[in-house]
Amino acid sequence: MEMRDDMYVNVQDLARGRPASEELSYENSAIERYHHQKTAEVDKAHTHAANPTKQNRGRRCYIVALVCLGLLCVLLLIATIVLWIMFTVEQDQLQSRLLNVTNERDQFKIHQPQKEAEYLQGIAAYLANTKQQGWKLFHTSLYHISSEENTWSKSRVNCQERGADLVIINSVEEQEFLVENLGHNRAWIGLTNINYEGIWKWVDGSALTTEYWNNGEPNNLNNHEHCAEFRGIPLKTNWNDRQCSEKEQWVCEKTVF
Ligand code: BGC
Ligand code: CA
Repeated sequence: MEMRDDMYVNVQDLARGRPASEELSYENSAIERYHHQKTAEVDKAHTHAANPTKQNRGRRCYIVALVCLGLLCVLLLIATIVLWIMFTVEQDQLQSRLLNVTNERDQFKIHQPQKEAEYLQGIAAYLANTKQQGWKLFHTSLYHISSEENTWSKSRVNCQERGADLVIINSVEEQEFLVENLGHNRAWIGLTNINYEGIWKWVDGSALTTEYWNNGEPNNLNNHEHCAEFRGIPLKTNWNDRQCSEKEQWVCEKTVF
C-alpha cells in the first residue's frame, strides 16, 4: 500500500515535470520556516508577557519626568515671587530715600529769605507759647521749674510727659543759670547712681564729667542717697546726693534746636 502511494506521488511529480524528491524538500523547508516563524512569535509574546518590569520601568520614567517638570514649575514660581518681593522692597527703600532727599532739599530752601522769616516766626510763636506755660529759654534749651514737690522718679515721669527730661547740666553757665533761678529752693536734677552700681550718670546715660557737688558731698548718708539735687544754697557748687524717695521740686529741660 505505501509503495503504491509513493509511486502515485512520484508519478504526479513526474507528470509536473520536476523530480519528486526536490518538491518534497521544498515543502518541508516551507513548513519548517512557518514553524520557526510561529515559534519566534510565541517566544516574543512570552518574553513580553513574562517581562512586565520593562514596561513598568518605562512608565516610572514617565512619572519621574512629570514630577521633575512639576518641581521645576514650582521652583520657577517661588523664584518669581522672591524676585517680585525683592523688587518691591527695593522700590520702597528707593521711595523713602527720595522722600528724605526731598525733605533735605526743602529744609535747604528754608534759607531763602522769605522762608527763613516764616521759620523764625514759627520759632518765636513756639517760644511765646512755652513761656506762657512757664518754660524759660537759656542758650538752646527750655527749662521748667516745678511748683509741686515729688520723688525723683515721679518728677522724671512728669518731665517726660512734657516732652522733656530732668535737667542735664553740661556747663558752668548752665549751672549758674539754675542757681540764679532756683535761689534757696531744693530741686531734683537728672543725675543718679541707682541703676549703675554706684557710678553717677545723667538721665540720657552720659557720664558725669563736670561736677558741682557741695562740700563733703556726695556722702551717700546711711547708704540711701542715690539721687542728686540742688541743695537750696545759692552757691556755684551746691549739689547734694539725697534719698530718691524724698519729695521736692524738680527742673525739666528740653532742647529747642
Ligand atoms: C542731707 C544729706 C546731706 C547732709 C549733709 C542732710 O540733711 O539729707 O544728703 O549729705 O544733710 O550734712
Ligand atoms: Ca548727701
